[in-house]
Amino acid sequence: MAADEEVVGTVKDQLAKLFEESLRVTVPDQTDTDPLIAACNPRFGDYQCNNAMSLWTKIKGTGSAFTGPQPVGQAIMTNLPRSEMIESCSIAGPGFVNVKLSRQWIAKSIQKMLIKGIETWSPKLRVKRAVVDFSSPNIAKEMHVGHLRSTIIGDTLARMLEFSNVEVLRRNHVGDWGTQFGMLIEFLFEKFPNMEVVSDQAIGDLEASENLFRKLFIYKCSSTYSKVLVYCILGNKVVKVSSVKHWYTVPDNGAFYKASKQRFDSDPGFKERAQQAVVSLQGGKEKYRKAWSQICEISRKGYEKVYQRLGIVLEEKGESFYNPYIPGVLEELGKKGLIEESEGARVIFIEGKKYPFIVVKSDGGFNYASTDLTALWSVNLLLLLYRYRLNEEKAEWMIYVTDVGQREHFEMLFTAAKRAGWLPPGDNSYPKANHVGFGLVLGEDGKRFRTRSTEVVKLVDLLDEAKSRCKAALVERGKAEEWTEEELEQTAEAVGYGAVKYADLKNNRLTNYTFNFDQMLNDQGNTAVYLLYAHARICSIIRKSGKDVEELKKTGALVLEHPNERALGLHLLQFAEIVEEACTNLLPNVLCEYLYNLSGHFTTFYTNCQTSPNRWCCQSLVAFVLWGQRRRQADSCCVKRLQRSCGNASIYLV
Ligand code: ARG
Repeated sequence: MAADEEVVGTVKDQLAKLFEESLRVTVPDQTDTDPLIAACNPRFGDYQCNNAMSLWTKIKGTGSAFTGPQPVGQAIMTNLPRSEMIESCSIAGPGFVNVKLSRQWIAKSIQKMLIKGIETWSPKLRVKRAVVDFSSPNIAKEMHVGHLRSTIIGDTLARMLEFSNVEVLRRNHVGDWGTQFGMLIEFLFEKFPNMEVVSDQAIGDLEASENLFRKLFIYKCSSTYSKVLVYCILGNKVVKVSSVKHWYTVPDNGAFYKASKQRFDSDPGFKERAQQAVVSLQGGKEKYRKAWSQICEISRKGYEKVYQRLGIVLEEKGESFYNPYIPGVLEELGKKGLIEESEGARVIFIEGKKYPFIVVKSDGGFNYASTDLTALWSVNLLLLLYRYRLNEEKAEWMIYVTDVGQREHFEMLFTAAKRAGWLPPGDNSYPKANHVGFGLVLGEDGKRFRTRSTEVVKLVDLLDEAKSRCKAALVERGKAEEWTEEELEQTAEAVGYGAVKYADLKNNRLTNYTFNFDQMLNDQGNTAVYLLYAHARICSIIRKSGKDVEELKKTGALVLEHPNERALGLHLLQFAEIVEEACTNLLPNVLCEYLYNLSGHFTTFYTNCQTSPNRWCCQSLVAFVLWGQRRRQADSCCVKRLQRSCGNASIYLV
């Protein structure tokens, strides 16, 4: 059996093995040379080996027999072991070795992919366990469009890593602690003087709503005012009713937070009580702890609705969780000589940074930085414990998903952790920590995305609108007569939510992106709708072919004749290395681009290979490899059911 008969690793890895052998023969003294393999311009081949030039730089003048980079390349090519993988090789420029893969080998490999399942093509990452800290909204504040990005990008990264057999701890580092809670609690007491009596019922009444804090106001008001309050709650202009002036000023989003902040800023008496409330809360006074946990619970219910809609699983470990451990961690950092006094605060000076990393504020309070240091320390401890318990060498990775505005914070955090010895120096050793930053969401005016009333845009509203637009489009196409209401709803959700997710993910996360419903719901461009449509079409072809994919697995007669057929086959085989690249660089857009190109390759194949014997085979492979295999639906679904299922499946990774 030839060495490459069994599928091992990505195409790149398999080629690297061959080139490694060649390099050993070509330059036996250069034992530390890793093969540099990359996909190449299709005009020259499929892959190229880029070692010749750097090798030449190393060996020239050392008495080597080579006279330049090109002869080095030539020798690398000549010394390549024979393999059924390779059809032909050529030399280009200053010694690049171009490789054209054998179409028989491509066909055989896809066949294996089909039989063994796409799961066996997951990349092999160095990391076995990772923490992805994402979403992380702040209690009592509205979950806004920035949190939408963190939620979508973080969930996608977690899914990509999970697909690659990494155990992911999905962390929701909610902002549930801090001095603002004194203000919120005090405000709650003011609104509900009879907290103990009313609160449970109030919470019960409020459960069904997303923006629960706004409803708190309804609960308190008498029915005479309720009509006016409904206007307030819907964010509309309110009729002039002097007696409800107080309510009129209550803003639409994060109302509870804003109203209490207003109170805090304008009334010194309230401010003092609020500061006292912080002390009572931190001292563990029951009444205060209870109010705090109720405020958190109300917010939590709102977030969970969003997570549920998007199929997102998260484990909440908020700031409050780490609070008791902060003093111990700071003491340890102090002992290591990292903490200094500066203008009454306790800080860590970081080289190259204008401001120090403040770990204890001048009023003695802890902050975002002290919490993150403690969280990092505890995560490290936990991971070390795992490693110890399993007695196995495991690489670990901590990934934080927030807007780019927090980059500085994380740079300082990681530097401090390195200096404390919690993380190794350098960026490529493990355990390692990465900040996954993302840009702003812009409105069509090119400015920060806001609603007409200049309030921040609420996440739930976006999801609602995406869904309702999709539903309207489906109804317009006459689907209301064909489908049940439930089918209509589910399809609208799959397409609508998928569109919002994909529109975000397809961009390099660091760039700002413009939120535009018309664009994201267009079935022609690079959108989720287009991908879903391509998938539904593939499945309908398979269905109409009357063939059984199981039969294809058994007969194994896949032949790639036409160039478009070959291109499609090769693209499918590149799946694993694309997932690997997307995971390693924490870039979901790499995977989106792959999917979009896959749809393109499929369409070209479909248009140009009308008579190919593989016509249905390749179609089924596309379906299987990307979606069907996972969901086991490719061979039996009708288009409308597929629209639903692949709404979830195609966004499984993206
Ligand atoms: N709550 C923060 C915010 O809304 C994000 C927290 C990110 N995670 C972390 N460990 N700092 O900006």
